[in-house]
Amino acid sequence: MTYLLGIDIGTSGTKALLLDAEGRLAARATAEYPLHTPRPLWSEQDPEDWWTAVGVTIREILDRSGIAAKDIAGVGLSGQMHGAVFLGEGDRALRPAILWNDQRTQKECDWITETIGRQRVVELTLNSVLTGFTAGKIVWVRDHEPEVFARVRRVLLPKDYIRLRLTGEYATDVSDASGTALFDVARRRWSDEMLDGCGIPAAWMPPAFESPEITGRISATAAAATGLPIGIPVVGGGGDQAAGAVGNGIVEEGIVSSTVGTSGVVFAFADRPVLDPEVRLHTFCHAVPGAWHVMGVMLSAGGSLQWYRDTFCAEEKSQANARGIDPYEVMTAAAAEAPAGSEGLLFLPYLTGERTPHPDPYARGVFFGITRRSSKAHFTRSVLEGVAYGLRDTLEIMRELRLPMREVRLSGGGARSELWRSILTDVANIPHKTLAVDEGPALGAALLAGVGTGRYPDVPEACRAVVRVTGSTEVCSVNRVAYDRFYGIYRSLYPALRESFAEVGRIMA
Ligand code: XUL
Repeated sequence: MTYLLGIDIGTSGTKALLLDAEGRLAARATAEYPLHTPRPLWSEQDPEDWWTAVGVTIREILDRSGIAAKDIAGVGLSGQMHGAVFLGEGDRALRPAILWNDQRTQKECDWITETIGRQRVVELTLNSVLTGFTAGKIVWVRDHEPEVFARVRRVLLPKDYIRLRLTGEYATDVSDASGTALFDVARRRWSDEMLDGCGIPAAWMPPAFESPEITGRISATAAAATGLPIGIPVVGGGGDQAAGAVGNGIVEEGIVSSTVGTSGVVFAFADRPVLDPEVRLHTFCHAVPGAWHVMGVMLSAGGSLQWYRDTFCAEEKSQANARGIDPYEVMTAAAAEAPAGSEGLLFLPYLTGERTPHPDPYARGVFFGITRRSSKAHFTRSVLEGVAYGLRDTLEIMRELRLPMREVRLSGGGARSELWRSILTDVANIPHKTLAVDEGPALGAALLAGVGTGRYPDVPEACRAVVRVTGSTEVCSVNRVAYDRFYGIYRSLYPALRESFAEVGRIMA
């Protein structure tokens, strides 16, 4: 029996899993690491923490499952997108990685857009230059840390840094490269015009492969550090959203995914580079060769509930500890007691600014509509509902663009809560399916390794062989009506507050 290893370098931790020859989950492990916010709007991690977590998770799955490392046929990588790892001589990281949810680069993004021209940027990259994307981070280092910039030899995305540690090769894949704002997404190659315009040497960026292609093999050093056998192939893999979509079977038109992890993402397959004329959605290469995808990304989805738990729910945490269950279970059980719509208490989930549909680093979280009747249950429920409204914003844009939407598949931590599943379903007004394995990105990475090493003929076949829908949440028509009314109010709040957010940003600068 041979196995495929999928590794996802997430924001809260690294997940690794082994898939057996029948496509069943044979083992999985997670190792967490911290996220640093040394200044307002900043978000950084130490790439060494990712590498340590990769070693820990691989050793743990091998030890716990008793599977022999020699039976692993291939490795696929997935990871948080957009982050910039700056490497100098000897491939040493010159500073902490600047992550996807870092918001320091509005000035740099404006500079890039003005220098190259807004229309030309969209023609070249099919996207706007957003603060989350990689290009602004590189220009920020040029302008604020010239001594670091002078020593840069390479810039890698998070999973590609791990690839370098595993194989000694510099490489990326087209889906992850799409999120740099330096990639010609329609032609699936680096854009010299974007790189030149930003003053970034093309030699800093790694060659871009299609996701199932083999990019290198496990080196002797990596074998010693992880327990993996020397020489097994590592495929291109994908950014976490594209790899996650493979893990969720989003490889044909009409099936859309909604993923509630730290971020919240609605993702649709496209067989051509579809462009939202208002450029509210991202258009990126898919991990399926020859395909693209469009998606909307909220920065704080599960991240909002995590913040709320850590800030306000000490009591629920200790209750959960005593009962040996997850604090989220205690919190959502209470939230289920509040009515749909939380009696007009609304939450805007813009805790780290927002991307879709409001690309605004200065947007902030808001509780709106508090009354004497507002209880903890209302507050918790309003957080779940606010995230669902935010995801609906993207679904509405997709409906407006007439993207086919037969089915929504739910994944990420948010899919595990029955209450959240029903809120997401009722707010979106479309049934939400759940899957047998909801480790989307790590599973997708393993499937891409399966395609690259010849187990499956192509990505759609790999998905057909492995991805199973196991449940469906249907729309409750009574709740849907309540949510429709409150969604209208939710939509009106950001425009009303935008100037105030900007003013707070100026005060805090
Ligand atoms: C996608 C995005 C996030 C990160 C972290 O554009 O920014 O989903 O990839 O998961």
